[in-house]
Amino acid sequence: MKNLTIVKELASLRQQINEHNYRYYLLDDPLISDAEYDRLMRQLVDIETTYPELITIDSPTQRIGAKPEHGFHEVKHRIPMLSLENGFDDQEIYDFNDRISNRLDVDHVIEYCCEPKIDGVAVSLIYEKGQLMLAATRGDGHVGEDITQNIRTIPSIPLVLMGSNYPELLEVRGEVYMPQAGFDQLNNDAKEKGLKTFVNPRNAASGSLRQLDPAITATRPLDFFCYGVGDVGSAVLPEKHNEILKKINTWGLRINREIDVCKGVDACVEFYQKLLSKRNNLGYEIDGAVIKVNHIKLQNQLGFVSRSPRWAIAYKFPAHEESTKVLAIEFQVGRTGAITPVARLEPVFVGGVVVSNATLHNMDEIARLDIRIGDTVILRRAGDVIPKVMSVQLEQRPANAQKAILPKKCPECGSNVVKSDNEVIVRCMAGLFCPAQRKEMIKHFASRRAMDIEGLGDKLIDQLVDNELIHHVDDLYKLQHESLSSLERMGEKSATNLLGAIEKSKQTTLPRFLYALGIRDVGEATALQLANHFGSLDAIIDGNNELLEAVSDVGPVVAGHIHAFFREQHNLDVIKSLQVLGVHWQNIVVESVDSILSGKTVVLTGTLVKFTRDHAKDILQSYGAKVSGSISKKTNFLIYGEEPGSKLEKARKMGVAMLNENELIELLKQCGYSHNE
Ligand code: IVH
Repeated sequence: MKNLTIVKELASLRQQINEHNYRYYLLDDPLISDAEYDRLMRQLVDIETTYPELITIDSPTQRIGAKPEHGFHEVKHRIPMLSLENGFDDQEIYDFNDRISNRLDVDHVIEYCCEPKIDGVAVSLIYEKGQLMLAATRGDGHVGEDITQNIRTIPSIPLVLMGSNYPELLEVRGEVYMPQAGFDQLNNDAKEKGLKTFVNPRNAASGSLRQLDPAITATRPLDFFCYGVGDVGSAVLPEKHNEILKKINTWGLRINREIDVCKGVDACVEFYQKLLSKRNNLGYEIDGAVIKVNHIKLQNQLGFVSRSPRWAIAYKFPAHEESTKVLAIEFQVGRTGAITPVARLEPVFVGGVVVSNATLHNMDEIARLDIRIGDTVILRRAGDVIPKVMSVQLEQRPANAQKAILPKKCPECGSNVVKSDNEVIVRCMAGLFCPAQRKEMIKHFASRRAMDIEGLGDKLIDQLVDNELIHHVDDLYKLQHESLSSLERMGEKSATNLLGAIEKSKQTTLPRFLYALGIRDVGEATALQLANHFGSLDAIIDGNNELLEAVSDVGPVVAGHIHAFFREQHNLDVIKSLQVLGVHWQNIVVESVDSILSGKTVVLTGTLVKFTRDHAKDILQSYGAKVSGSISKKTNFLIYGEEPGSKLEKARKMGVAMLNENELIELLKQCGYSHNE
């Protein structure tokens, strides 16, 4: 008696779970949360663990079965699984329509069912009395492989059909595919683990279905669309193909939502165009449209020719993948000094454009692909994505194929290249000198938080570099009024203003100058720490990795970058030149960590006349003060300029010590600062 209640409870739980699966995978409209679903599943597992004799093969807990002991068995298809004729332009589709009209001898428009051609793996699923009994690959169309155990792991494929009016025997045919997001994730994971990646989602789907261990297949993000039926015994199904699909959908199998009925060939061509425009946003790969005569009676009249039906055609999209030859592997220097290998390719039409170059990212990627000059490669350009070399066709490798050799010197400026420990990227460290890094470097150097050259914006820098008025940052300080004012859109007055701003920038601080050098990973905070720790640029230049790492912000990687930067003679030459041209700063008295300001919290308000706000902040910080934005109990000093804000009143009320600009200068002088008026 007890067993009967348990059997009933098990049946009810299984039915509930199957229904929730249907709502989730088919209708995209779950009724319960994932947590509630998990709870039902756990309940089922618990009961089945206590009563293992009551486990049934169609229970939702039984998706992962045992490995087949002797590999996959052969399965003979009861009805052959055919392929499709291909069409590549509108004319071929009109010809297809003409052939059909002639054969059927009709002059009215033919009704078609148009579908996306899913780029996956064709499978046949056999349901007997509603239970999934057998799943097979297409194989050669007559004999495939028994992949039932793997198919059972795909969550959207029902183990038991929904409803009750399904045929005793139902062979469903469709495509197992891997959605784009799942494919990207799978490949990223593989890359991280140093494993081989899949060329495309179709290969990934096919590889996943060919796993001998269903537990592995279960981890792969596979999905399924049904596009037709095979053997259905003596069952009577609807008269039209699209209605059959709708019926199958009610039994719990997924049907693609883009499928549409098109009356006449013009509508089919329109369907194709629309589908093509959606191609990159579907979330799964399709490689064309399949156009099928919709009436089954007409399909039967038309029959087959060799291995494909006369009643259907695949109107293919332009290819996303092509093979081509690697003519050379060259090295390019990017704006930040990164040196990137690039494959120069025999031009090839792929994904709608002619491609003749593809980045190879870094030497690790070259090793992973094992790509050599002379190789034939598979190039892929899906959507608007940049072209990517997916794999090398090793069997086509010529005897004289050559390996790419990483240059020891920067191909742009001849400086040393450096590979840091934690990076796969190799860089040119001559940031101040290398022409490839020129514009970026100058933009950074002139920016507000660096040398703060007012009015020297990105466009003007482009103009100055393009007109060869500046090559390196020190050339800024050699600019003449005459050459400047001759530039397009540059008046006399702007030239004078700019020269004034450049002149003003010569007086700077050590942290700003360090930051302006654009050393990799040396941001403002690190520059400040370095300046406070070493006190002078010479001390930093002389610092070895160990000394550099003594600075709290600096780890081995950053220390390596700093060291490599100052070991590059080209950089040192530019720094010397800057100093000769008048760029100067005050060295920091290192002991000043014990200054009156050290550890004190300072707030600024109002307009200072003798300093900019940023400059005052830099100096205060260099003497160990913390500069905060608002008055609190922790504030030690309020420094106020002209037209102070409400902070003044607040500080007064809280009894915070207040200093005007002159008193600030006096305080700074006590810390060792000398002010140039
Ligand atoms: S119908 C007899 N419909 O394309 C017609 N096939 O080249 C059988 N495919 O092996 C196929 N999406 O794997 C059909 N909506 C679709 C399809 C589709 C993808 C694949 C299928 C077949 C191949 C034919």
